[in-house]
Amino acid sequence: LDAERLLAATAELETPVAVVDGDVLERNVRRMAAVAEEAGVALRPHGKTHKSALVARMQLAAGARGLTAATLNEAEMFADAGVEDVLLAHPPVGAAKLRRVDALAERVGMLTISTDSVDVAVSLSDRVHVLWEVDSGHHRIGTAPGQDTADGVAALLERFPVERFRGLFTFPGHVYKAKDDNDLRTIADEEADALLDSAAELKARGIPVQELSIGSTPTSGSVRKRSGVTEMRPGSYVYGDAQQVKLGSTGAEDCALAVVATVVATPAADRAVLDAGSKALSADVLVDGLIGYGLVVGRPDLTLERMGEEHGMLVGQGPTGLRVGDRLAVIPTHCCTTVNLHDATLVVRGDGTEWDPVAARGWRSPGDR
Ligand SMILES: Cc1ncc(COP(=O)(O)O)c(C=O)c1O
Repeated sequence: LDAERLLAATAELETPVAVVDGDVLERNVRRMAAVAEEAGVALRPHGKTHKSALVARMQLAAGARGLTAATLNEAEMFADAGVEDVLLAHPPVGAAKLRRVDALAERVGMLTISTDSVDVAVSLSDRVHVLWEVDSGHHRIGTAPGQDTADGVAALLERFPVERFRGLFTFPGHVYKAKDDNDLRTIADEEADALLDSAAELKARGIPVQELSIGSTPTSGSVRKRSGVTEMRPGSYVYGDAQQVKLGSTGAEDCALAVVATVVATPAADRAVLDAGSKALSADVLVDGLIGYGLVVGRPDLTLERMGEEHGMLVGQGPTGLRVGDRLAVIPTHCCTTVNLHDATLVVRGDGTEWDPVAARGWRSPGDR
């Protein structure tokens, strides 16, 4: 990102403020679309990263087949933005959520839900399709690849119409714990193999499998050409973050999102305090060996060592040279959870600036219903 440009565009604004280099964002969107096209798979970006109608439309314009959502807020907002094919990658459990799912299914061309539960699947209305979730090693939701998955899907199809069973789904979240590039590639192989092996088992039992949906930003570079995988769901690639940089899946120059913060105190020569703490920058650090809560652009000598809610404690390798009032751009550790802390991001492009509402952040409160 072009920190000078982002700092100039936010110079008159209160900090902390989330700001996006729109040119880098567009480049990232186009680049991932090209990766998918080259691999011969459909792209269904995970919109949990941006929670934005503007970015969702940009992804569709670049060729995405639809979007993935993690919450009903996100799924509904994407429908409002004109996304016709929505995957809710989180099982909706409970009557209140099911009512929202039913209403949403009436508004989009195709609504799919991922689950590893027959009970969840049979609770859905007739318009909703299902992807069965396989555990490729993240140990979150999903049946083990192969026999267990085939048994699970067979049990599903005893109570659920085969026409609404679309195929298999997995998320390799454990890639964020990859020790090195080799480990990352092994996890990417396991991600695809988990679905391919399970699909082979299902086919042997005469069960049709249309879709094999994988995806994460770190494993996106390994999508194998014509392997049988049908779609990928990377999310973080649009903005990038310090975790992606540490894993090597995004170059620092390809990070599009920063939080601009102001120095509010300089208690020691080698320390300064920013007005951005965990209310403005994600405190999530999934990747081992990542030091500090973000990358201070242009100042590799500074570490954002600790955060309170409204304080960010910067430590220098020597005197920081910072003064109260100075502004810095910080690339957060985790873009998705950082964006969730802001009402809007300021998108700065060659041709001007525009506020982009983080329209689907957080949860809908009972009072909104
Ligand atoms: C189910 C699912 N698919 C895809 C993604 C996108 O992963 P990433 O942010 O690594 O691109 C996520 C992220 O949490 C996810 O939960």
